[in-house]
Amino acid sequence: MELNLSEQKQRFLDICHDKIHREGLDALLDWLGKVDFFEAPASTKYHGAYAGGLCQHSLDVYEYAQKIAFLSPTPIPEESLAIATLFHDVCKCNLYKTEYRNQKIDGEWQQVPAYTVDERFPFGGHGSKSVYQVQYFMKLEPVEASAINCHMGFSDGSATTVRDVSKAYQEYSLAWITHVADEAATYLLKR
Ligand SMILES: [Fe+2]
Ligand SMILES: [Fe+2]
Repeated sequence: MELNLSEQKQRFLDICHDKIHREGLDALLDWLGKVDFFEAPASTKYHGAYAGGLCQHSLDVYEYAQKIAFLSPTPIPEESLAIATLFHDVCKCNLYKTEYRNQKIDGEWQQVPAYTVDERFPFGGHGSKSVYQVQYFMKLEPVEASAINCHMGFSDGSATTVRDVSKAYQEYSLAWITHVADEAATYLLKR
């Protein structure tokens, strides 16, 4: 999967500057540029497992969310939609490292890159870590924090999570839309 990383980064920054007008945005984008957000994969092998996969996945989720935002009974502010989707997975910054493995290609052993998990900021939660990291630089509205926090849906499976996530989806259309857009970007695009 060949991506033009600098073009993709510029597209991400352009959308941020176009849709988000909030104090702290520049500091957040600055940080994303310093860590590996624009070069990181989206996972080790499940989806977007290549350089730039994380940024591409974030843009995919943003686009899917735009397409399904009409399902919300009340209009979703463009700024909130951009914030929740573009930054939902910033917890994956500084999470992966590249290792080289021997693989036989066309009968010859070659060194091929492979991603492994090397968590440098263990936080004990996926969405909650993204909320913390975004909020460190830029204040989130409750609806945006809930959307980022609950974007994984019911996958942790505890009764409390199921109850609270259900409630969040009922209360905040953006939270459900972010979750569904994340699933669509992950499972339908097959990147
Ligand atoms: Fe995620
Ligand atoms: Fe995601």
